Amino acid sequence: MGRFIIEGGYPLNGTLRVQGAKNAALPILAAAIMSEGEITLTNCPQIRDVDNMLEILGELGAGVERQDDTVKLLPGKASRSVMPNRLSKELRSSIFMLGPLLSRFGRAVCTYPGGCEIGHRPVDLHLRGLAALGAEVSEERGRIICEGTNLRGAEIHLDYPSVGATENIMMAAASARGDTCITNAAREPEIEDLQNFLNAIGCSVWGAGTSTLYIRGGIEHIPSAVYRIMPDRIAAGTILCGVAAAGGKVTLCDICCDHMGAALSKLREAGCLLDQGKDALTIEMNHRPREIKLIETYPYPGFPTDMQAQFFALCAVAEGTSVIVENLFENRFRHCAELAKMGAVITQKDRTAVVRGVKRLSGANVYARDLRCGAALTIAGLCADGITTVDNIELIDRGYQGLDDMLRTLGAHITREDG
Ligand code: UD1
Repeated sequence: MGRFIIEGGYPLNGTLRVQGAKNAALPILAAAIMSEGEITLTNCPQIRDVDNMLEILGELGAGVERQDDTVKLLPGKASRSVMPNRLSKELRSSIFMLGPLLSRFGRAVCTYPGGCEIGHRPVDLHLRGLAALGAEVSEERGRIICEGTNLRGAEIHLDYPSVGATENIMMAAASARGDTCITNAAREPEIEDLQNFLNAIGCSVWGAGTSTLYIRGGIEHIPSAVYRIMPDRIAAGTILCGVAAAGGKVTLCDICCDHMGAALSKLREAGCLLDQGKDALTIEMNHRPREIKLIETYPYPGFPTDMQAQFFALCAVAEGTSVIVENLFENRFRHCAELAKMGAVITQKDRTAVVRGVKRLSGANVYARDLRCGAALTIAGLCADGITTVDNIELIDRGYQGLDDMLRTLGAHITREDG
């Protein structure tokens, strides 16, 4: 088990280029299996979830080559439609492979997906969507089996705007006979990135960013393409929270501010100065953060659940009392107990937490219970007195391309000890 060792009390200063988006890269890598040409993806983040996805593609038989943040795939060589057990269990996004494999082979088998333990994460909307396209879906000893060589377009209404279900259905629908319309679709920017990628490989998808998506079916030959993955709004937001909590002045480049409206407005409420360009942002903070009256997570464009833990760390050192409500996942307050070890004052019941800010947190030995919990604890360590050790950083590496390196570049005193 690896750990970060952080000496708190140093502000963050400098300029940083933000990594490509994990939540865009994973479905796009899955969609690549639909192609028989060569797919080149640039700005693909070097993170463990992407490594796992590439290993899945390799095990299915696809050619996989990677150099820094460029990935070259030869999906035409893939011959298998059964996903490796261990990897599908480890990576929740392995569920995204169902739609594209069904598109390509008429059959897809995966083990119930794993991933961060942020509550019960059902896949019923994914499976109901694929069934609506005519796939036969069955479950056998923990495995999901989808079969259907004759998928047909359909009108599909999602009971909830699930990001993953929207993406899975988009990918399967591209090869169905006839057109598909998804209503109450998720509106996250990563859906738009997937739409752009699908269009780059010859599909016709439109509507992303609104809650109604249209997919023209019938695509047969999927050509080669070169595609650049969008910037990671959550990695960017994490660094911004670090500056808000520890102080300093940082410019982030290669970001899309338009995707970050909800988080930026909360940073302003905390008293940060933001200077916003089209694809760059400078944040400056030279005082203790003010409390944030209410943070409530919602699907995009609401406040993202993936930023809730990092803002929690910020509220823990704010001047007043903040209230945080988590609406998406029932088990996403696992950072509370860890932050409390550092002196955070938190009262939590069900989906609501009340955080009474303290002047200083104290360094402690804490444990990353999930990816964003790990990011929150790292932020807390930056502004705590003394030394904080964050254990289990393998979970942080799932989604951040060297969070420690990024923070060190900005002047943080953080080292990594591999386990
Ligand atoms: C994606 C993101 C994740 C983010 C989440 C919400 C990726 C790789 N992951 O996850 O980082 O936290 O969006 O923004 O893109 N649900 C069902 N049935 C389903 C599917 C989902 O009930 O079949 C529920 C979930 O339990 C949850 C809610 O819908 O309460 C949102 O989940 P969803 O949008 O599907 O998240 P993911 O796609 O898993």
